[in-house]
Amino acid sequence: MKYIIGNWKMYPRQIEDANEIVKEIKKVAKKAVACGVQPVICPPAVFLAGLIPKVRGALQFGAQNSSEFADGPHTGELSTIQFASLGAQYIILGHSECRGRGETDALIAAKVITAVKVGMHVILCVGEKERDHNGEYFGEVAAQLRASLENFPPEKTGRLLIAYEPLWAIGEKATHPASARDFQEMAMLLRRTLSECFDKTKAFKIPLLYGGSIDAKNAQSYLDIGADGLLVGRASLKVKDFVSIIDRASGGLTK
Ligand code: PGA
Repeated sequence: MKYIIGNWKMYPRQIEDANEIVKEIKKVAKKAVACGVQPVICPPAVFLAGLIPKVRGALQFGAQNSSEFADGPHTGELSTIQFASLGAQYIILGHSECRGRGETDALIAAKVITAVKVGMHVILCVGEKERDHNGEYFGEVAAQLRASLENFPPEKTGRLLIAYEPLWAIGEKATHPASARDFQEMAMLLRRTLSECFDKTKAFKIPLLYGGSIDAKNAQSYLDIGADGLLVGRASLKVKDFVSIIDRASGGLTK
């Protein structure tokens, strides 16, 4: 299965606009799944309850962050148990925008464990801030991955997806996306690091995704080189582009 995951971040402003986007993606979701492509939308959490009942079925939903606690006196926080109770099946954790607001590897590791224990699929994001000529960024990403998976229950690796998202390739400030080649090199390192953390057979089954300035034009290049999926930001809010990414991943068979 390949995963095409839309990270809507804090967009759109109105639920009506969210409904419109979902309506269009729903049209291709069933055929995509039949072609081995799982579309997932991660809207702002406040929209999940409104969106999920409308589209139960092929299209799946996720949240963008959660508390490390299952419940408790944590004003303003949201838990993965609550997301799961709405029917959400995925959670993005460790996104660089959350790390940038002060989330540490230790906090992320705690969130990851809480989430997989309640049966959520965790999309764990890792990626270097910038690239140096000596390749030290490889060590930075491996260390980040290891620390974010500290004490991860090995029997839950089937719930884990890793998204490589280099910071320099994310968002409007990015000058360019990582190349498919960049992703391929990093995927080898991620795979090796995962097989040091877990049983090799299990480690090899963990999907490795790319994210950072993906658009309808470049999406296929990562899939062609072996990415198990894509974590799409801006382009996931442009219906035509996101539908086109899903369609390409499905070999053009969703229409
Ligand atoms: P982008 O965002 O596709 O807009 O670069 C990706 C992400 O932050 O997940």
